[in-house]
Amino acid sequence: MEKFIDESKQGETLALEAKKENTRKLFIESYGCSMNFSDSEIVASILHKEGYNTTQKLEEADLVLVNTCSIRDKAEQTVRKRLEKYNAVKRINPKMKVGVLGCMAERLKSKFLEEEKIVDLVVGPDAYKDLPNLLAEVEEGRDAINVILSKDETYGDISPVRLNSNGVSAFVSITRGCDNMCTFCVVPFTRGRERSRDPQSILEEVNDLWSKGYKEITLLGQNVDSYLWYGGGLKKDFEKASDIQKATATSFSNLLELCAKAQPKMRIRFSTSNPQDLTLDVIETMAKYKNICDHIHLPVQSGSNRILKEMNRLHTREQYFELIDNIRRILPNCSISQDMIAGFPTETEADHEDTLSLMDYVKYNFGYMFTYSERPGTMAERKLEDDVPEAVKKRRLDDIVQLQRKHSELRTKGYLNTTVEVLIERESKKSDKEWSGRTSQNIVAVFPKQHYKIGDLVNVTITDCTSATLIGEASPIAT
Ligand code: SAH
Ligand code: F3S
Repeated sequence: MEKFIDESKQGETLALEAKKENTRKLFIESYGCSMNFSDSEIVASILHKEGYNTTQKLEEADLVLVNTCSIRDKAEQTVRKRLEKYNAVKRINPKMKVGVLGCMAERLKSKFLEEEKIVDLVVGPDAYKDLPNLLAEVEEGRDAINVILSKDETYGDISPVRLNSNGVSAFVSITRGCDNMCTFCVVPFTRGRERSRDPQSILEEVNDLWSKGYKEITLLGQNVDSYLWYGGGLKKDFEKASDIQKATATSFSNLLELCAKAQPKMRIRFSTSNPQDLTLDVIETMAKYKNICDHIHLPVQSGSNRILKEMNRLHTREQYFELIDNIRRILPNCSISQDMIAGFPTETEADHEDTLSLMDYVKYNFGYMFTYSERPGTMAERKLEDDVPEAVKKRRLDDIVQLQRKHSELRTKGYLNTTVEVLIERESKKSDKEWSGRTSQNIVAVFPKQHYKIGDLVNVTITDCTSATLIGEASPIAT
């Protein structure tokens, strides 16, 4: 996904414009991937109709919801800590109700209600429309739970409320679930089967965002390249579709094109791409439309063919290189980012060296790197022993992070003395006299504010850089 939201944003609370007649207060916070942040906007929209306005103050909440992540053990521990905090507040405000949403709700189900006495409500990612009924149960003093996964729920009919938004960029969810079954990953279990959202409702959302002044969207899915609309139904049932459905199906490259054409001035991003599903026509569509940003997040996890196989990643190192070569040939200015896992079961030093040499080949612009965390119920947990010692995992991760830093620096230095287009998103964290925005390649750039404002697209001439940030001077874009 635009990957895991920047650490500083983790647990960000979401404030919703108050509706006068709404009397109850909802405090909602999200952890994990962009999809969770996007789902919280759907939840807030559903509850807005039930009389809830959001608040940033935990202490005054009638209802506290935490949208949780199960991807690594650490993510779950963070949520457990938050529950302790809610518990302390509940002692002062005993009427406050607490609900757990998202992947941990789906993974732990009713165990949550047993383990964490503070929790009144457990709702999985496909059951948010049931929230009004579940809340009615809670009001009557009963614990409530719905963790049923759906074959067709895409929330396409719900207009998400943009929470705590900069008014410039927004997430638009296009698929839910994942059918890939990477052996380390809990997502197929917590988010269910892969299904795609009706392109018409996606286009309506994109057009609506443009009319409200948004300048950039990110199409979201666990595996966006696998998007396939043929009138509804699971991806895996496409074979059973009628000839007409097959002939008129919308693929991801079709969808990208539809969005790019519908709003030619809207910047379009997408995340995440799975190497085995990213097709040439997506890369070619990116080349054809200037408003589709030049960035591909292309997690690889490992550079070793043996480990890729153990992970059930359905491509080899050589096929990945071929894909990289095609991206470089068709989109020479495209940035590429990665996800890596250090210390997957059975990983040897030679496997780790393969990861480092793969990184040397690609020289990614940036990446998200993790040590392997065994997740209950996954294939890896059932079939493989978590046998790489923690210290070895950490050292390998450190090697990967150091090498990535070197490559990131090399990449940002490549922009020195060039001029790049930047969409202004917010004030720089370091100085209130500077703006911060991103280039088409998804690289952060900061520069003096001058007379520009949030939402402006400006040319920035790069004069300096760090490994993660471009530093420069802005001038207007001739239109
Ligand atoms: N396709 C998804 C991937 C979700 S998981 C997406 O849209 O981003 C995000 C990343 O977390 C993965 O790419 C992987 O690098 C990491 N990850 C997943 N399971 C993990 C585990 N068990 N241990 C460590 N890292 C893991
Ligand atoms: Fe997880 Fe692999 Fe899907 S990492 S989300 S199973 S593509």
